[in-house]
This record gives sequence, structure tokens and C-alpha cells, in this order.
Amino acid sequence: MKVDPEQVSTPPDGAPLSTQPQWRQDFPIDVGQDNYVERREFTKFLVLTSGAFVVGQLWIAGKAIEAREGSAVPSQKIADLADIPVGGSLIFRYPVQDEPCILLRPQAETLIAYSQKCTHLSCAVVPEPQHNRLHCPCHEGNFDIATGKPLSGPPRRPLPRIHVELRGQEIWATGVEARTV
Ligand code: FES
Repeated sequence: MKVDPEQVSTPPDGAPLSTQPQWRQDFPIDVGQDNYVERREFTKFLVLTSGAFVVGQLWIAGKAIEAREGSAVPSQKIADLADIPVGGSLIFRYPVQDEPCILLRPQAETLIAYSQKCTHLSCAVVPEPQHNRLHCPCHEGNFDIATGKPLSGPPRRPLPRIHVELRGQEIWATGVEARTV
């Protein structure tokens, strides 16, 4: 009778099963099959982890593009132009109530807005126009008023920029640009 090779177990030392200890005869392990399954499992593991890595990278890339182009949030009126004097600032909330932002008017024709949350640990930054900076009192962080980029202290990332535009005499927020550099 022809023996199905799939049904034959090969002990680790290759000796006949009849010479193996009783426990191995009762529970034979086919070394070849065992290695084959391990290779197959390992290949499956590699494919799955590689796939997860690719999906993760695509998600990060998508988020980076979204952040660079400004996330799609609805426009919102911040204030009338007359509400903010030249050299002054104004706190507003955008795009939701728990997101404080700061609008600055360093010159008559220049409006700049940032998230008010420090990029270190989210304390509120305050303008110091005499030093051309936004100051975070929590750990003495400073940001450039013109760019929102960190100048000194613990923060390493710029403040998210709020896109603003003038519609007649009204100032509107039109988007949020999260930045990494
Ligand atoms: S929270 Fe702003 S410097 Fe630490």
C-alpha cells in the first residue's frame, strides 16, 4: 500500500518513529511540516505588517497634505475691522468653541491670526508687540509674530496659522493650517 507522505511524521533526529521515546510516539511532531508552517506564518506576518506600514504611511501623507492645504472648515466672521486697532490684538474661537485663536494687526493693512495654543504644552500665548513675538508664560516659549515660528524656549513647532481675509469691513477666518516647520 502506498503511504501518503503527508501522513508521515519526521522526528527531529530523523530516526524511525519506533525508536523514539513513548511521549514522541504519542504526540509526533513533523519537523518538516512544522518548519513549513512557521515559514508560512512568518510570511503572513511580514505581509500583514508591511501592509499596515504602507497604510500608516499613506494616512500620514494624507494628513500632511490636508494640513498644508488647510483643513476644510467652514468660514466664520471674526470681527469688524474697526474692532481691532493697529498694533492691537483680539481673541476669538475657531473653528470650534474650545479652540482659542489670536488675531493680530501689526500694521493697518496686515492681519495675522494663529491658534493661541502653544505648541509645547498648549498654554495660551500672549502678544508682546514691543518684542515682535508671542510669549508663552508657562515655560518661557516665544514665537515670531510675523511667522508664528518658534524663537526660543521649549516649543519646536510653529503655531497653527488661521487663514483670514477681509470681506468689505469684516474679518473672516477661512481655514486652519497646521504646520510642522
Ligand atoms: S506650554 Fe508654552 S512653553 Fe511650555
